[in-house]
Amino acid sequence: MTKLKQAEKYRPYLHFSPSKNWMNDPNGLIYFKGEYHLFFQHNPHDSKWGGPMHWGGHAVSKDLVTWDELPIALYPDEDGTIFSGSAVVDWNNTTGFFPDQPGGIVAIFTHHLESEVHNPPKQSQGLAYSYDNGRTWIKYRNNPVLKHDSKVDFRDPKVFWHHSSNKWVMVLATGESISIYSSHNLIDWSFESEFGENIGSHDGVWECPDLFELKVENNEESKWVLLVSIGDNPNIDNGSRTQYFVGTFDGSIFRAEHEGTKWLDYGKDNYAGVSFADIPEEDGRRIYLGGWMSNWRYANEVPTHGWRSQMTIPRELGLRRDKDSYTIIQVPVQELDYYFTRKEIIKNEWIGKELRYDFNVSYGMITLNIGNKDAVKYGVNIHHTPTNVTSIIIDTQKNLLVLDRNKSGIVSFSDNFPIQQEIKLSDTRKIKLSMIIDSSSIEIFGNGGEFALTSLVYPDKICEEVSLYALDGEINVEEGYFLKPNT
Ligand code: FRU
Repeated sequence: MTKLKQAEKYRPYLHFSPSKNWMNDPNGLIYFKGEYHLFFQHNPHDSKWGGPMHWGGHAVSKDLVTWDELPIALYPDEDGTIFSGSAVVDWNNTTGFFPDQPGGIVAIFTHHLESEVHNPPKQSQGLAYSYDNGRTWIKYRNNPVLKHDSKVDFRDPKVFWHHSSNKWVMVLATGESISIYSSHNLIDWSFESEFGENIGSHDGVWECPDLFELKVENNEESKWVLLVSIGDNPNIDNGSRTQYFVGTFDGSIFRAEHEGTKWLDYGKDNYAGVSFADIPEEDGRRIYLGGWMSNWRYANEVPTHGWRSQMTIPRELGLRRDKDSYTIIQVPVQELDYYFTRKEIIKNEWIGKELRYDFNVSYGMITLNIGNKDAVKYGVNIHHTPTNVTSIIIDTQKNLLVLDRNKSGIVSFSDNFPIQQEIKLSDTRKIKLSMIIDSSSIEIFGNGGEFALTSLVYPDKICEEVSLYALDGEINVEEGYFLKPNT
């Protein structure tokens, strides 16, 4: 939620969107002195990507849901425009930037230099630091701190303090691999290892990595997780999306412990998300903001005016183990609960054909625990208006959950946008669905966060009615909540 007037068409209530112009990846996500900081890739001159990219604006929040937008944080300079990156708190003054205060924020970002002389472009990593909680920034005078002689794609540094080896670690996107570097002061970096050959999806260029440890649910065990976003490939319907690997990390080498590709989100509209740094230990959550709720395939064409793009709801990440397979679990942060009033409306309701519910809201959340008796297909229709409908279909014969936004509203700006989004389900006899509906998006979380599907929609109104239906049989809604805004 931005403290903006909601009068503009498609302007979200619950999701962060820039007041003006273009936004893509979240950058420099960090918690410091009671505030969450969100910087983002921004073109302040237009609502399309391109032109000189900035870090900024910048937004701060106390609860991860309502954000105050602040001025641009990092402007382009002679080393280039400002591409994606991260932020850390240098508590022990390893950089020497903070002799007179107990720690401060350091941003580590990519400088992208493109000109007739620099063709192909040059990408290098630079530092900036702040003495006033991220409000103003000083660029390090000896930037760049890390460059490469031959790699053209050399970007999106995500840095964290690795406790057991007592050093900073950087994961960096380097073509179709992730390179790992380490440092004692954020200034001098040594190469450690490179990950990615013959593993995972190589459908596009690798971007915006993140590496962190996650506790396994109901267990003492923990594992390291590497997130990697993959750029658009015109030959594949999905466009840009994010994969992850689960394995071990010893401070130098990340080793994945599985084959095949794990997708973080089965929707089209969640890209380049990474996690917040420096969440206090007593909180202990791994909070992910992603991502950027769009897709490079059509991001520049979505039908908003004067501003473009929004972020997903921040999500808490966990890890679930089933035999030897690990799955990321993601649920909206608990802070979101405050924005809803709970209203239970369904208990043990049998549905054949269709049941309709009034749900005239400016934003809302629906949670359903459904058991299938003998329906061949069943699902939920979000009736934005009598003619704008988004359908969620569970196909028991193909074992699929499908989101169909073909009739959801404006779709004609891209041939790719109406293509169905699907998740393969292992069991269609029972399903738990939780759906957040906002002005121009639907986020679905399934089976307690075992899967997510994030999708933009551009209907004329947010929601008027919701229907539940079963085809050729019956379903039982064991429990359902329709949550309305807390206003
Ligand atoms: C990902 C990305 C990054 C890059 C930034 C530029 O969406 O392509 O790799 O740093 O966007 O805006």
